[in-house]
Amino acid sequence: MQKQLMQITKKKDIALDTVEMVLANKYISKYAVPGQFLHLLVPGQMLRRPISIADVDKESETVTIIFKILGAGTKQLATCQVGEAIDALGPNGNGFPLDMKRDSTAVLIGGGIGVPPLYYLAKKLHEQEVNLFAVLGFQTKVHVFYEEKFQQLAQTIIVTNDGSYGKTGLVTDVLDNFTKPINRYYTCGPMPMLSAVKRQLVNVEGYISLEERMGCGVGACFACVIPTDHQGGYKKICQDGPVFSAKEVQLQ
Ligand code: FES
Repeated sequence: MQKQLMQITKKKDIALDTVEMVLANKYISKYAVPGQFLHLLVPGQMLRRPISIADVDKESETVTIIFKILGAGTKQLATCQVGEAIDALGPNGNGFPLDMKRDSTAVLIGGGIGVPPLYYLAKKLHEQEVNLFAVLGFQTKVHVFYEEKFQQLAQTIIVTNDGSYGKTGLVTDVLDNFTKPINRYYTCGPMPMLSAVKRQLVNVEGYISLEERMGCGVGACFACVIPTDHQGGYKKICQDGPVFSAKEVQLQ
C-alpha cells in the first residue's frame, strides 16, 4: 500500500445515484487484485473513504471504482471532474483467492453496491477458464448496472426486489437453479444477504467480502470488528479482510 495521486480519466452515471469513475495510476493498477479497495481522500473531506476496486486495466494503467451517492463524502466525490487528481492509499486489504482450476464452476453473488468488486474477480476467473454464474441483486430496475459486462463473462441472472427487471425477489431465490454443481461461491453485499447466502450454500466453499461494513478503513474506528468462528476471536474487516472464508466469520 502506498500513498498515490490518481487522476480521473472518465466519469459516468451508470444507474440511479451510482457513479463509475476511472482513475489512472501506474503503481495501483500494477499491484491491485480483485477484492481489494482504495482509501480515497475526497477533496474537502477530513477522513479517507474506503471504496472497492471494480476493475483494473493494466495496459492503460487505470483502476475503475463504482460508488453510490449516499452521504457527504460520496456526494463530494461525484462532483470531481475528469482531469482532477485524488489522493489515494492502495491497493488495500486481502482480496479474493483465485486458486480455481480450469473448468471448475463458481457463482458470484452480489447485492447492490456489493456488485463492483465481483466484476474484476469475474474477469480474472474467466481468464482462468472457470465456468461462471453471476447472480446480481438490485432494489429496482433503475439501480441495475453492469449487466452486459457480466454477461460477457458469466451466465448472469439479474434479480430486483420489486420485480421491475429480471427475476423478482432476492438473490437467494435463484441459487438453486444452476445447471452445474458449484465448486465455490464468492459474495459481496449487505449483511442480511451475506448471511442468507452462507446459510443456503452451507455445503459449498465460500468467500465473503464484508467491505460494506467498513468505516475509517485503517483500523482506528472499530466499526468493522466481526466475530470469528474461533472462540472469542475478533477480526477487523479493514485490516484482516475485507475478504474472509465463509467458515471463518460469524455473520449476524
Ligand atoms: Fe475503522 Fe476497520 S474500518 S477499524
